[in-house]
Amino acid sequence: MTAPSALPGPHASALDLGGRTALVTGAANGIGRACALRLAAAGAKVRAVDRDADGLEALAGQSQGLAGTVEPVLLDLTDLDAAEQAAAGTDVLVNNAGLQMVRPLEEFPPEVFHTVLTVMLEAPFRLIRGALPHMYGQGWGRVVNVSSVHGLRASAFKSAYVAAKHGLEGLSKTAALEGAPHGVTSNCVNPAYVRTALVEKQLADQARAHGIPPQRVLTEILLRDSAVKRLIEPEEVAEAVAYLCTPQAAFITGTSLTLDGGWTAH
Ligand SMILES: NC(=O)c1ccc[n+]([C@@H]2O[C@H](COP(=O)([O-])OP(=O)(O)OC[C@H]3O[C@@H](n4cnc5c(N)ncnc54)[C@H](O)[C@@H]3O)[C@@H](O)[C@H]2O)c1
Repeated sequence: MTAPSALPGPHASALDLGGRTALVTGAANGIGRACALRLAAAGAKVRAVDRDADGLEALAGQSQGLAGTVEPVLLDLTDLDAAEQAAAGTDVLVNNAGLQMVRPLEEFPPEVFHTVLTVMLEAPFRLIRGALPHMYGQGWGRVVNVSSVHGLRASAFKSAYVAAKHGLEGLSKTAALEGAPHGVTSNCVNPAYVRTALVEKQLADQARAHGIPPQRVLTEILLRDSAVKRLIEPEEVAEAVAYLCTPQAAFITGTSLTLDGGWTAH
């Protein structure tokens, strides 16, 4: 008997990950937390990787009663060797951890640029590298990269983030080509602005960079290009990630699934 899900509403995808191991990075908050809970609800044994110990503890509490389990893994992904090792033996890999800084190029701190590229591009490479031997060995695996509209479009003042996400798109497509003969798919999901701490934290930054009051950032900056005028919820992103792990999605690889309210339709 399947335990009830902790998430609101019915799941769109009938996903059974019983007996599978999934690794989700950035699992302590936001989209990563929703993904970890969704995959655990599908029966997976989820390795929840994050550097936020309190968030991981809260996640473990929220996962009680699900069909699968959540194992907290306290890890800073700038430790690339440890990241690669953590991915060994996983059937499903969700590269999700990320961070943002909004600053004009000429003021952008080089050390932050380096960290953003390390966590959001180099760590996914190392995690995929660590996960593939097991996936190839069994002839099945799913890599889902949480990219962004900013993997497909640029916005001013987000040089590191846009560069990292565009790089992640290329990494994902390459993994798709190499993984196909081994039953491994690799895809991106590309949300517009999601209701998470990452967005809340950048309101002040955006206001400063654009020279407008923080209360005008949501409508004038964040939702300006979206035809659907609301933030997307983390659970909606997690459902797309779950869909890409279903048997019905086996032919979908090397693609970028936009969840952007029509932003890239412009
Ligand atoms: N929030 C949005 O609007 C939005 C839109 C499109 C894409 N995304 C992407 O979704 C992903 C998740 O974002 P979110 O909005 O849930 O953010 P969030 O800030 O709520 O969560 C990000 C998580 O990543 C973790 N993390 C950051 N650096 C880390 C490191 N060095 N080691 C380990 N963990 C680390 C944080 O601790 C946090 O738990 C990111 O890749 C982000 O770029 C977010």
